[in-house]
Amino acid sequence: MVASCFMITTILGIESSCDETAAAVVNDGRVLLSSVVASQISIHRKYGGVVPELASREHLRQIVPVVREALLQAEIDFHALDAIGVTQGPGLVGALLVGITYGKTLAGALDIPLVPVNHLEGHVHAVFLEAAQAGRVPKLPAVCLIVSGGHTVIYEVREQGAGLENGEGAQPGLAVPHELGPEGHRPHELGLFAYRKLGGTRDDAAGEAYDKVAKLLALGYPGGPILDRLAAHARVGPPVKFSVTKMKGNAFDFSFSGLKTAVLYHLREHPEYNEEIHLRNLSLERGERSFEQLLALCSPQTLALIREFQDAVVRDLLERTMVAAESVSAESVLVSGGVAANSALRLAFEARGKASGIETFFPSRALSTDNAAMIAAAAYPRFRAGIFGDARLNADPSLALA
Ligand code: KG4
Ligand code: ZN
Repeated sequence: MVASCFMITTILGIESSCDETAAAVVNDGRVLLSSVVASQISIHRKYGGVVPELASREHLRQIVPVVREALLQAEIDFHALDAIGVTQGPGLVGALLVGITYGKTLAGALDIPLVPVNHLEGHVHAVFLEAAQAGRVPKLPAVCLIVSGGHTVIYEVREQGAGLENGEGAQPGLAVPHELGPEGHRPHELGLFAYRKLGGTRDDAAGEAYDKVAKLLALGYPGGPILDRLAAHARVGPPVKFSVTKMKGNAFDFSFSGLKTAVLYHLREHPEYNEEIHLRNLSLERGERSFEQLLALCSPQTLALIREFQDAVVRDLLERTMVAAESVSAESVLVSGGVAANSALRLAFEARGKASGIETFFPSRALSTDNAAMIAAAAYPRFRAGIFGDARLNADPSLALA
């Protein structure tokens, strides 16, 4: 037998930036062994959004069982881990601190490195992780649209060393070696990416607009999944047409608060919606919030309104992202984040990708929304580069990717 030179790196990812407590085990950044997500939706639902204090408390309750379950599903124990990747930011400070503190303690106890990860870089890696499961690798340079409840932003993604340097800067608690990697690898050999922000939302994130419109229509929280399904049931023409928001300045910026306000004004001007909104509110209060129960309480006009709202969001995300892709001669377009789970968005990007010859990539729905597999995947090249956090590592609620 030939002596094996396979060195597999097993990383535990931990994510606690918002309202999901998640842990996952990934080998070599691309082989998914397990991914466990404990959602807090049932806790925040009655407030119509995430309550930071409640989120931190729930992360504290969930972190230990979630990590245990991730190891159990991966069929390994703590001693098989080579590193721990943890979300450093952006996100809610109290929520982030739970994951960071747990990660630091565990890494210290196991005497393995702790690798701080930017949550947004995690969303980029979710796409690469998913593609790898199908034996595909998105070509670079790419443009990545990250679209969720907290973010709507377009980045140019290149290999590090190919013209866009991030420069981690000197942060307390973060060691960035001069000679990257234990064997002095060059950045692109490690799979490190460099990012440039091309545009972002000036007000609400797209997912936030979904959540607010669902609230106006009494369709519960979060709004994205239910509006997505209801839109598919529209059978009549739109009761109103929403135009693309025109803005001065950067053509790759977004604005969704005007669209939400347009829905609000339309509802105010048409009192015929009031009765069904009242009935749906009663239904939600009774805990009757399933898709079928709410669909039965939606008029054809409401379904068509939802469809028009969704079309406007999708059109805007698609157009600005594709123009951005052309402007940097991107070889592929990546779409990630909670709203990337949207059926109409996926269809629109796939169709445009085919027509324009730019390959489009999405994570599975499970890896589109917040998860820890993407954190473990993003931690891998950083682990190889020796970018480690120490005991002083702190949460950074507004950590930027570029
Ligand atoms: O990435 P994520 O889990 O958490 C954040 O970082 O925000 O995204 C959650 C957001 C919510 O606003 C939710 O309404 C939206 O993603 N979302 C969707 C869909 N599924 C989740 N929006 C549109 N269509 C969907 N199918
Ligand atoms: Zn996210």
